[in-house]
Amino acid sequence: MHALVSEFLATPGAVRDAVAEFGSPAHLVFPQVFAENVERLRAVPAARAPGFRICYAHKVNQSRAFVATARAAGISIDVASEAELRGALKAGFEPERIEVTGPKGEGLLGALVGTGVTINVDNLWELERIAALADIPVPVLVRICGFPGTPVSRFGVPLTDSEQLLAMLSSQRDRIEFRGFAFHLDSGEPAERVRAVESCLELTERAYGYGLTPTVLNIGGGFRQVFTADAGAFDAYVHALRESLVGRGEQMAWGANTFGFHVEDGAVHGTPVFHKYANIVDADRMLADLLDTGLESQGGRSFAQVAGENLLDIWLEPGKALVDHAGITVARVEFVKRTADGSTLVNLDLSRDTVTPADQEVMVDPILLPARTGADEPVSVPGDPNPDAAGVFLAGRLCLERDLITNHKVWLPRYPQSGDFVVFPNTAAYHMDLSAARASMHPVPPKLAVSRESGMFRVCCDVDWHEVH
Ligand SMILES: Cc1ncc(COP(=O)(O)O)c(C=O)c1O
Repeated sequence: MHALVSEFLATPGAVRDAVAEFGSPAHLVFPQVFAENVERLRAVPAARAPGFRICYAHKVNQSRAFVATARAAGISIDVASEAELRGALKAGFEPERIEVTGPKGEGLLGALVGTGVTINVDNLWELERIAALADIPVPVLVRICGFPGTPVSRFGVPLTDSEQLLAMLSSQRDRIEFRGFAFHLDSGEPAERVRAVESCLELTERAYGYGLTPTVLNIGGGFRQVFTADAGAFDAYVHALRESLVGRGEQMAWGANTFGFHVEDGAVHGTPVFHKYANIVDADRMLADLLDTGLESQGGRSFAQVAGENLLDIWLEPGKALVDHAGITVARVEFVKRTADGSTLVNLDLSRDTVTPADQEVMVDPILLPARTGADEPVSVPGDPNPDAAGVFLAGRLCLERDLITNHKVWLPRYPQSGDFVVFPNTAAYHMDLSAARASMHPVPPKLAVSRESGMFRVCCDVDWHEVH
């Protein structure tokens, strides 16, 4: 956890007061942590590449405080809808600092053309429509996919269509201001990114032959978060989980859950569906490694060097890396109950989709905060060895048998009581907003911004947050 977040949680009454004022459950974002992430990441290309641009991928979180912080930090923004675009403009981003990514329909394209924002084109239809709608040249990047050894993607123009693409860009030069190629990979695999860079550099060279003058190579997002300082402990946990699936050791899964593992003949096969929590390579390191990689196709020169020599600006679209450790979710314990198989369910005033992106099991240990923090009840720290730890499943709202908040057992320092709080750490990246629905007409939890000013924590509605200098 970031020190600022730990200190907030350790401040007596801080969580209780926030929830008393704004309600429970609640998402809390920490713009100062976001700002630190920006500075750390920005230092990496600043030391290596003459031209670069960081576009904050807004889709990772709907927080206005994050958008305002990105603007104040002087970076750019990547928006993926009209609403995100409106938010960026309202926060004060000039069109030159806005890039629009993702597949777009006729309505969005119509709203974008003529505004000066850069459209990161997903497909040839979009390109055609932009050319048809444009009165003045529209700044455009083109997302490419289908790199050697990369899984098939539903986004972007396949590399195999590059001939047609270059011909179109060339013939529409009076309507399309082609700025360069882009990619965004789903994977954090460094070798895949290097292959994508090499393919896009080669395409860039070919583009010059078509009379085009690309000046940007956009390498997308996908820079990883670091959820744990101890990768070995997480690996040991996964080992124990696998053992439990074949009946060895304590039961660790609710019902018939196998988390993507395939159990057959008393053995566990396959890979889990959950995130790579054991990763300890942070976004800064990933980016530094990529920029420093010697490219075989470029005579071994580093990516940063090749970009500099060819006057190519490197753009990136980090989402999760910029919000890493910059958000938590707080819920209240309603009641604790025992099920027929002897399991303990802790029911929270929260639903699975409010903290779970795309229904992917979140394996980060929650933290139990007693309703009343007293000297005899210290704030629990995840991973604390505790012989009295209570193994429980967290349940909550929603109604399907499988929609518990945790389908894996979590260990709390003791059995919670009604009124205690459970805090989910590091939820700012996609957890808060990607899947949250309003089933049973429960409202979406409020989003609050927490900042420390003059040594005191200030909590306000995210939409009301502004930086205090
Ligand atoms: C085009 C594009 N760029 C950037 C991002 C941000 O990715 P991440 O949060 O992995 O950095 C996404 C996420 O889906 C995306 O689709």
